[in-house]
Amino acid sequence: MNVNGKHFRTIWIENNNNGIVKIIDQRFLPHRFVVEDLTSVGEVAVAIKDMHVRGAGLIGAAAGYGMYLAALHAPWDEFFDHSMKHAAGLLLAARPTAVNLNWAVQKQFEAMEAASTNAEKVAVAYKTACHIADMDAAHCQMIGEHGLPIIEEISRKKAGKPVNILTHCNAGWLAFVDFGTATAPIYAAFEKGMDVHVWVDETRPRNQGASLTAWELAQQKVPHTVITDNAGGHLMQHGKVDMVIVGSDRTTFTGDVANKIGTYLKALAANDNGVPFFVALPSSTIDWEIEDGLAQIPIEERGAEEVKYMEGLCEGEIKKVLLTPENSPAANFAFDVTPARLVTALITERGICKPQKEDLLRLFPERKR
Ligand code: MRU
Repeated sequence: MNVNGKHFRTIWIENNNNGIVKIIDQRFLPHRFVVEDLTSVGEVAVAIKDMHVRGAGLIGAAAGYGMYLAALHAPWDEFFDHSMKHAAGLLLAARPTAVNLNWAVQKQFEAMEAASTNAEKVAVAYKTACHIADMDAAHCQMIGEHGLPIIEEISRKKAGKPVNILTHCNAGWLAFVDFGTATAPIYAAFEKGMDVHVWVDETRPRNQGASLTAWELAQQKVPHTVITDNAGGHLMQHGKVDMVIVGSDRTTFTGDVANKIGTYLKALAANDNGVPFFVALPSSTIDWEIEDGLAQIPIEERGAEEVKYMEGLCEGEIKKVLLTPENSPAANFAFDVTPARLVTALITERGICKPQKEDLLRLFPERKR
């Protein structure tokens, strides 16, 4: 998508230097646009853990590139495989909830298995990392195409009046390689000239909605309004939300959805008010091993300081301020699970389906056992 009119992806390889992976360092948005160079798997793991990059798809793409950098720097002797296992361990320990991390690491191992020499393994890891990133972008674009008719129908029913869409956190292009998931149908509708307006949940504690979703919508000139996390229910009660679209960090094959903390409350409010609640996701976020999201999806708990402090721009500088009494403890659950029964439909790169096993397997028949 565009930044000041110029096309960017969220992650890419430096022109003329295959040893440098470039990322948009999201810690500085929306106030500064910073591009960071990553040259080792250790740096990639830190970038994931400390959220220079975040969002399920982008975490997966970063892990793919991280494995490539690990291969590039691994000793070209009998310790190569050991070194790759160590690299995988570093990446897998970075963040637990988004399944894309494990998915991308496994894809790299599967691809390298077919190569015989270490030089071939490096070449294959490079190709696979680029493929993971390209697929992520392509799948997000397809999600936009499949989700577009939903917005078109609401727009038709409202005789062209603005379609009000609520989203939570950032499932935009910054969370993926390009286009995003929840935002892809919105961008497609906006490009077709439809009148859309997005309610953007600020998304405490890290405020991915207020700082990232609002920034990317503003960059694409899509009308939007930032709201507090608690405002969604009120807006739905007053008919000001036509649909909710969120992303997913891990989706069970039975349709339960782990997404940013607070998603579940939005789903409950939507259900109570008859507002359709859609989840947009590429198949890389589907966990085909897990049946019960509530019991089986690991929920990341992050540091208390993210809750206790808030960051923002003050007199031209990014500053951090304390919100709570200094010694009050804080808890920081980063994700929650929305049960399938509260989800109207899933929007995937292969089409739309009900959040249930049979429907998901109809779209992804190769997953049948
Ligand atoms: O903690 P984050 O920012 O990596 O959380 C991921 C998210 O952005 C959301 O949960 C998002 O809605 C999922 S789509 C990648």
